[in-house]
Amino acid sequence: MEVETLESHLERHVEDQRLRKLISSFAYISLDAQHHFPKYLRGTLGDKNKYGEAVAKLDEWVNGYLCDSLVKTGLVAKIYSEELRQPLIASANAPFFVTLDPLDGSSNIVTNNAFGSIVGVYAEDLPQTGKRLLASFYKLYGPVNTFVYSIGKGSHEFVKHYDSEGNAKFLLLAENIKVPEPGEVFGLGGDPLEWDPRFLKFAKDLFRVEKLKVRYSGTLVADFSQILHRGGLFAYPSSKKSPAGKLRLVYEAQPLALIWEQAGGASWSEEGSLLEVYRQDVDSRIPVYFGNRHLIEKLQKALS
Ligand code: AHG
Ligand code: MN
Ligand code: MN
Repeated sequence: MEVETLESHLERHVEDQRLRKLISSFAYISLDAQHHFPKYLRGTLGDKNKYGEAVAKLDEWVNGYLCDSLVKTGLVAKIYSEELRQPLIASANAPFFVTLDPLDGSSNIVTNNAFGSIVGVYAEDLPQTGKRLLASFYKLYGPVNTFVYSIGKGSHEFVKHYDSEGNAKFLLLAENIKVPEPGEVFGLGGDPLEWDPRFLKFAKDLFRVEKLKVRYSGTLVADFSQILHRGGLFAYPSSKKSPAGKLRLVYEAQPLALIWEQAGGASWSEEGSLLEVYRQDVDSRIPVYFGNRHLIEKLQKALS
């Protein structure tokens, strides 16, 4: 039987033709971007971004390329990007408001480990809760190029292939992904010496009691892909120095929370599901916890 293409899958599952076009366009736009990566692998710009972090040349270039290409689709009214101090105002009458982490995992550029791009799509301008996400998707530039999307009807993964004419196309790899139970791996970001001692104890129990194996790459989408396919827990918790953690609510946490919850996992932020969180400041950081349901329940008890 022939494997389904991304376009055909979208046709069957996404009613709004404009949303279909935005999702499939991004899959190919990010593929085109990847062809240029080798030119920008070394160096940082002098500037810091709005989070006070050094901007790698590749961060800057990918942000420009993805933003320009998204604007050219004519489907985007505004783009909120992790790498832009102000949102980019595109086509006034276009239907979608987009959030973008253009290059997730900048510290892995030099080491040639996996990194990715994360996108959230809304029908209204931000701020909004994650419950208002129309769609979210991520690209993982790993040994193979995968694309995962959700519109709130399951989470689906595609992988890049070439047809006999050498044209790239995305073929279905996993439909309606379900997080495996009871879960196999965990990854935790930040400094354990700065964590709440109750979280540190919970973390030790992940290998002592739950018998999970450690997996931490330093790229959120890569670590997320580990737990999506193997089950377990990923957290970038609050700490004494950074009560809000490191990860960004709208650029990183909420788009992945939609995909995670649609795959049967539970997300948490110390105040409920990550999708329920609302912050007036679109650039807010948030503690992030993604896990199999029973692990998030244990975590909530441990921290209460
Ligand atoms: P970005 O490259 O978009 O700034 O994101 C980096 C994030 C995320 O990908 C990862 O989970 C985390 O930062 C890694 O942080 P540490 O280097 O502190 O482990
Ligand atoms: Mn990121
Ligand atoms: Mn980034």
